[in-house]
Amino acid sequence: MPAEAFVAQLNEQIASEFAAHQQYVACAVHYDAETLPQLAGFFYRQAMEERDHAMMMIRYLIDTDSPVSIPGVAAPVPEFSDVIAPITLALEQEKRVSEQISALAAVARGADDFASEQFMQWFIKEQVEEVATMTDLLRVAERLRDDVDDIEDYIAREQTGEAEDPTAPRAAG
Ligand SMILES: [Fe+2]
Ligand SMILES: [Fe+2]
Repeated sequence: MPAEAFVAQLNEQIASEFAAHQQYVACAVHYDAETLPQLAGFFYRQAMEERDHAMMMIRYLIDTDSPVSIPGVAAPVPEFSDVIAPITLALEQEKRVSEQISALAAVARGADDFASEQFMQWFIKEQVEEVATMTDLLRVAERLRDDVDDIEDYIAREQTGEAEDPTAPRAAG
């Protein structure tokens, strides 16, 4: 059975992952409405990844016979002033999540809960990738801000989505 403090904090993290899902859908819809299909597609894919993260955490709690409650989530930021704003927000969100993930690993380690500490390892690696991806996208978008079609081309060329990761934790559902 995982440490009680870890279970409580992982339940909170599930809310953060679902909130990230909703936020990325809001970003995707913003771009979709502007007929920027590559940016929209990028954020729809990111949204699905966030949902997957929540479902992996739910699976872990079920597998370890721990209590899990599906949370309501904070409303996403619904409107953006320009093409850069959703990406800036996304990078801040990913940096915040990275801190939350590290904190979860620290709680597990502090409680000698080695299974939970190991469960968090994949998420630590995932956050390094997600912060790097958003940092790259923000840099490119700031450089090309006057020609949004070039940003679209960059995504079509470089951000086409990830292959299935066989090391990913099992998801619920
Ligand atoms: Fe996530
Ligand atoms: Fe993420």
